[in-house]
Amino acid sequence: MPGTPSDPTFAIYVDGQAIPARPGQTLAAVLLAAGCQTFRYTRSGKPRGIFCGMGACFDCLVTVDGLADQRACMTPAQPGMQVQTGTLAGGPPAGAGGGA
Ligand code: FES
Repeated sequence: MPGTPSDPTFAIYVDGQAIPARPGQTLAAVLLAAGCQTFRYTRSGKPRGIFCGMGACFDCLVTVDGLADQRACMTPAQPGMQVQTGTLAGGPPAGAGGGA
């Protein structure tokens, strides 16, 4: 069974911080276990995280190893992955004046 307590852990890097993960865990599972509930923001600045947990809603988008808009609930954690949360799917919030 993937992600059982007896499995060895490895590190992924979430916003530059090392977080333990287990084989078979999705990025969403790792992020939630680490206390992260906001994975991205909408264009209007609303926080989004896990909603459906099965790849349908796209609320859980993160950047993985430089690839934007990856679904955390569908992406298996791999050793050394660089994950960036807090990205603005589809661009910055209205009036934010920031970059994409
Ligand atoms: S939580 Fe819905 S697609 Fe990931």
